[in-house]
Amino acid sequence: MVNRHTRILVVDDEPDMVTTLKDLLVGEGHQVDVAYGGDEALNILQNKEYEILLTDLSMPHVNGVDLLRQGKEHYPDLEVVIITGYGTIESAIEATRLGAFNYMIKPVEPQDILSNITRIKELLSLKKCNESDDIFHGMVGQSQAMQRVFRLIPKLAQLESPILIQGETGTGKELLARALHACSRRRNEPFIPLDCGALPESLLESELFGHKQGSFTGSLSDRMGLIEAADHGCLLLDEIGNASFHLQTMLLRVIEEKRVRKVGNNAYKNVDFCVIAAANMPLLSQVEAGVFREDLYYRLCGFVVELPSLRERQEDIPLLAGYFLRQFAECADRPVAKEIAPEAMDVLTSYAWPGNVRELRLLIERAAVLAEGPVIRRRDLVFLGPKADTGQGFMLEKSRNLADLPFYTVVEDVEKRYLSDLLEKVEGNISQASRLSGASRKTIREKGKRYGLLD
Ligand SMILES: Nc1ncnc2c1ncn2[C@@H]1O[C@H](COP(=O)(O)OP(=O)(O)OP(=O)(O)O)[C@@H](O)[C@H]1O
Ligand SMILES: [Mg+2]
Repeated sequence: MVNRHTRILVVDDEPDMVTTLKDLLVGEGHQVDVAYGGDEALNILQNKEYEILLTDLSMPHVNGVDLLRQGKEHYPDLEVVIITGYGTIESAIEATRLGAFNYMIKPVEPQDILSNITRIKELLSLKKCNESDDIFHGMVGQSQAMQRVFRLIPKLAQLESPILIQGETGTGKELLARALHACSRRRNEPFIPLDCGALPESLLESELFGHKQGSFTGSLSDRMGLIEAADHGCLLLDEIGNASFHLQTMLLRVIEEKRVRKVGNNAYKNVDFCVIAAANMPLLSQVEAGVFREDLYYRLCGFVVELPSLRERQEDIPLLAGYFLRQFAECADRPVAKEIAPEAMDVLTSYAWPGNVRELRLLIERAAVLAEGPVIRRRDLVFLGPKADTGQGFMLEKSRNLADLPFYTVVEDVEKRYLSDLLEKVEGNISQASRLSGASRKTIREKGKRYGLLD
């Protein structure tokens, strides 16, 4: 941990509070300046840069949120902690949404102030050693959108309110959920993913809450449910959009009450867990369509993070492709390609990636194996399936120069050939095809129909 002094500006319209905070922080060896109101603070910020702004929320003229906004505009790296007498979860979320590091409710304990400062210092030193890094807890990205997500993670990880992650299939929702958990104070506690679409209705209750021995035929011993397993840790409600009404109702109740009762048992047990939900379609539109409970939706969206699709962040494609190739080469038991030819990279960056990062990873792994030398060429991206060079009535042939064809013809042909091989491999089982390929069931169904491969 760095012992360097931190430059802190303390702002409050109550002089006593200013003095208390200043004494506390100077006592810890920090460099502290003070302002007795928002206007004065703005003047000071014009001329001097601080690492931390510790400010009251409600002040006449210029309040804490105004200071946060303007301070961040001048100094994007400024970390802001807001202190307020009006603590509601809404204003806490609003301040964090605007980029505050944290929010404290009066009366504040000196210990809480100091632990916030320590956490910010940790964050600052982490930022310094990772400045040139495009990877954060296993998430790779240099696009502005992903960099913004990386910056949000340590902040969101402090929140105890539920976080909703939305993004197309394969955009990294689970990876992000794990990164959030890894940055939270619960990091050494369990992380329990629950696939909300996969639990059979008949087993819902016992899976979620557990059961006592003998509570129904076949229950030979006591079993702990998933919610209890997440106690002290984090529960990932994955594919929340697929939750049945019955499951939605049970989740709403357990999130509100934070207690569980095993099937066949009378006693309740209190549980403490934080909730992250993930959806691959906008949950609000499902509320509007009447298939998702509105009350549960508002319960879950303490903060909403949108993960952009891969085609909206093309600049990440070369980075990700290189990263997956290196990873794959390290684990492969025989030499595989280690480089991607520029012309192949062009194909990768202009493709639409309906299966997003997952599709890219699988494609790179296949290409690394298919390549005949140390370099992945464009043809290695085309010939996906094992029977690709038998033709099967596709336009593409191995000897053909793809550049002679229009781009979409090539892409469609590859899709068609890929789907044809895939569906054959899984004997038309769409769910299995989706699992294997990383494309959604909907995509497989639609494209399969379009290419005449499915009825
Ligand atoms: N930014 C990233 N950096 C590195 N790998 C990534 C990134 N995003 C996704 N991946 C990889 O892509 C794959 C899919 O990621 P993940 O399972 O988190 O997606 P998802 O959004 O949960 O998808 P789905 O909606 O289909 O469940 C994983 O192998 C993951 O490691
Ligand atoms: Mg997922």
